[in-house]
Amino acid sequence: MTFKRYTVTAALPYANGPVHIGHLAGCYLPADIYVRYLRSKGEDVKFICGSDEHGVPITIKAKKEGITPQQVVDKYHKIMGDAFRDFGVSFDIYSRTSSQTHHETASGFFKTLYDKGVFKEEVTEQYFDEKANQFLADRYIVGTCPKCGNENAYGDQCENCGTSLNTTDLINPRSTLSGEKPVLKETRNWFLPLDKMQPQIEAYIDSHKEWKSNVFGQCKSWLNAGLQPRAMTRDLDWGVKVPIEGAEGKVLYVWFDAPIGYISATKELFRNKDLGIGIDANRGTELGTRTGILDDSEWEKYWKDKDTKLVHFIGKDNIVFHCIIFPAMLMAEGSYILPDNVPANEFLNLEGNKISTSRNWAVWLHEYLLEFKDKQDVLRYTLCANAPETKDNDFTWKDFQAKNNNELVAILGNFINRTMVLTHKYYEGKVPVAAEYTKSDILLLEEISKYPAKIAASIEQYRFREALGELMNLARLGNKYLAENEPWTLIKTDEKRVQTIMNLSLQISANLSVLMEPFLPFTAKKLGAMMNLNTDLKWNDATRTDLLLAGHQVNPSSLLFDKVEDDVIVAQVQKLENSKKENEAANVAAVEPAKPETSFDDFSKMDIRIGTIVEAERVPKTDKLLKLLIDTGIDKRTVVSGIAGSYKPEEIIGQQVSILVNLAPRKIKGIESQGMILMAENNKGELSFVAPTKADMNNGGAVK
Ligand code: 2FM
Ligand code: ZN
Repeated sequence: MTFKRYTVTAALPYANGPVHIGHLAGCYLPADIYVRYLRSKGEDVKFICGSDEHGVPITIKAKKEGITPQQVVDKYHKIMGDAFRDFGVSFDIYSRTSSQTHHETASGFFKTLYDKGVFKEEVTEQYFDEKANQFLADRYIVGTCPKCGNENAYGDQCENCGTSLNTTDLINPRSTLSGEKPVLKETRNWFLPLDKMQPQIEAYIDSHKEWKSNVFGQCKSWLNAGLQPRAMTRDLDWGVKVPIEGAEGKVLYVWFDAPIGYISATKELFRNKDLGIGIDANRGTELGTRTGILDDSEWEKYWKDKDTKLVHFIGKDNIVFHCIIFPAMLMAEGSYILPDNVPANEFLNLEGNKISTSRNWAVWLHEYLLEFKDKQDVLRYTLCANAPETKDNDFTWKDFQAKNNNELVAILGNFINRTMVLTHKYYEGKVPVAAEYTKSDILLLEEISKYPAKIAASIEQYRFREALGELMNLARLGNKYLAENEPWTLIKTDEKRVQTIMNLSLQISANLSVLMEPFLPFTAKKLGAMMNLNTDLKWNDATRTDLLLAGHQVNPSSLLFDKVEDDVIVAQVQKLENSKKENEAANVAAVEPAKPETSFDDFSKMDIRIGTIVEAERVPKTDKLLKLLIDTGIDKRTVVSGIAGSYKPEEIIGQQVSILVNLAPRKIKGIESQGMILMAENNKGELSFVAPTKADMNNGGAVK
């Protein structure tokens, strides 16, 4: 099917931290390559992105940095937008979900669904942190994933297996605010009835068997498990207010509002167009938001016209939201087109470990630029050549060096450099006449003209690694041609033949300049300027082999790429090692410092004995407490202990423990507790008995 226009989105990143190579490789780079290619084909395309400024990731960051959520998003929206621009990610607009347009759009969308009676309104029990006095939505709660057993799954999603969760699905839930086990409390929410919509959604997914197998497979596995209603509102105060009566103090679920952000950003793109504020799509990112007159018929073409192809580039953790929940929202609204494709990448690791912001195990884009000034394309190249398209992949600095030195310098740069240098040397920079083609020249010309279609076919199937490989094959072809024809030897005997060889090499260089633009936009620009090329050349022009007319003057040449030396790589690896060490040191620092000195006499006053738990039961109406009956060797006594989060009553009968037997009794929840069990605690707040390691320690034996 052919389309009149394209709406291409890249996942709105949470505005809670700078951008790293994992982000770039995951979706922004492939999306940018795709869009630049479409523009070069002369297609009508809008490339939409912006900061996702709501949701728990933002409020958690605000708490951590001791600033307000608004301050967090203001800070990171700028940092992220700048990083994307610096790496040539050519959004037509980089907006933000705190904009007025977005609040109105998301709120209006919710109201439309509400008025249509789409939502199921229900009072359900949700987790509540009594200490923090708030409901625990999404990332405010972690626990064990019921599907894969990951102990740190979030309340709305397990990042390990990708399953989308409700907080109440978690096993052993804990609040990320207080570390406490939360209680259940009733609250009213509005649910999207995905269960009822399953047939429609299933038909939609089944009509897209061409999607990448990782995406299609994940969708099918959710559908096979049976879709469940999902709450689209949250008891939080940061976000888009729920626009209906009786929903005071509630906001839209961030995954309801965020994808609508694509629509709001598109609207903003068309605001004030008449005032000339629209940006040059190829040249950079506009930060911020626009207000002003909006002509609905303009933006609606990109979202409602059946001739528009809607493509969402995302990372694999976003699949369910873009392939099931967002399409369900769009279906329920009724007037929108549905995503035509959702190319999702897997994850990029770094030097064998998962990229981690908190552990500073990352290559940050802004830091990269400090060390590798003007080498954005080297990173773009490495990340594309190694893109995690079908499986998780690893970025290593050694590989970065090898890709730069052995491919960009040795193949692409070398071919262009030899061509340019010889052109200046033999013809003072003027393109020579191609006098007469040999048979092998003609074969080569045919071969060259096939490259635009070859590369295009890979790009259109979202196979960017393969596409880049083909681009490099064209440069290899050029190198092979020079090596086989040796113009530097032939110049002494056959000047005419050399003219043809050099003309042809220059044509290949010009074609390379057009075809490399989506992948290596900075280099393409440099090469275009060096060759004094017409800046309006389009993709299909590269099927021609006469882009440069004889006599055309090229400009002085300089190297497109230079070698990355070992010491530079060693320094980068060392920097990561330092992060690792700092982390280890921080973990050590997290251990509580020693208490002030005490005397042996004071220690001896404590009577600690070995005992055995003979009975154990939960203390009613509490989550943490167990009532234990302990055989201390001296007597059998009751102890109330806060270990219910770590042990079930039935699993600890017969367990030997260390018990402080001369602690003054005290009442806990109305029960007299006659002693204290000694427990160890790890940094996740999990408790373990401090118990004898030999089986024959008798009850009543002293712990000294
Ligand atoms: O995973 C994330 O970073 C989300 N902020 C992506 C949102 S994509 C879209 F829906 F806006
Ligand atoms: Zn899981």
